[in-house]
Amino acid sequence: MRVQTNSTPEIRLAREQDLNLLLELEIESFSGDRLSQRRLRHWITANNALLLCAFSSGNLAGCLLIIFRQNSRRARAYSLAVAKDYQRRGIAESLITEAYRRLMEIGRYQQIYLEVRQDNLAGIRLYEKLGFRQQTHLTGFYQDGSDAIRMEREL
Ligand SMILES: CC(C)(COP(=O)(O)OP(=O)(O)OC[C@H]1O[C@@H](n2cnc3c(N)ncnc32)[C@H](O)[C@@H]1OP(=O)(O)O)[C@@H](O)C(=O)NCCC(=O)NCCS
Repeated sequence: MRVQTNSTPEIRLAREQDLNLLLELEIESFSGDRLSQRRLRHWITANNALLLCAFSSGNLAGCLLIIFRQNSRRARAYSLAVAKDYQRRGIAESLITEAYRRLMEIGRYQQIYLEVRQDNLAGIRLYEKLGFRQQTHLTGFYQDGSDAIRMEREL
């Protein structure tokens, strides 16, 4: 089912009540290196992370996890997923834009970086469109042995 809506998603921080939907989205989106229910619960309440959820017509359409490293001016985009029925509607862009806004508001971060599978062309295009540049090739970065590309941009 493709969902016919172009309305702007509502973006807010994840809450405990979102846990099951977040877990379903992880399972739908990733075959390995998934966030477990335990880790998701941790990140919902952690004070060194932003777990943003995008809702469209009341349904969880996507999520983005940003982690702040201690003693670092760099924030890490750790995980991003948009449900298949909601893809290509600008939800990932909206989530990342909201993360930038919140990071700027916090004020102490200068860069944002992430890793993406080297064969994830949708992800690489998305990040390049949003100003990320490819920095480093990471061999065997994922559980299944696939390589990653580290990308970053200034805030
Ligand atoms: C990658 C992903 C997050 C994109 O989410 P999305 O909400 O569909 O992306 P958007 O609609 O915001 O797209 C923004 C831009 O990204 C690029 N893009 C997104 N999906 C793409 C695709 N399938 N093919 C090529 N480019 C794509 C395009 O440049 C697009 O801009 P455009 O629509 O003007 O061409 C989504 O496909 C997804 O969740 N995939 C599975 C999990 C994953 O790969 N996560 C990222 C891991 S690092």
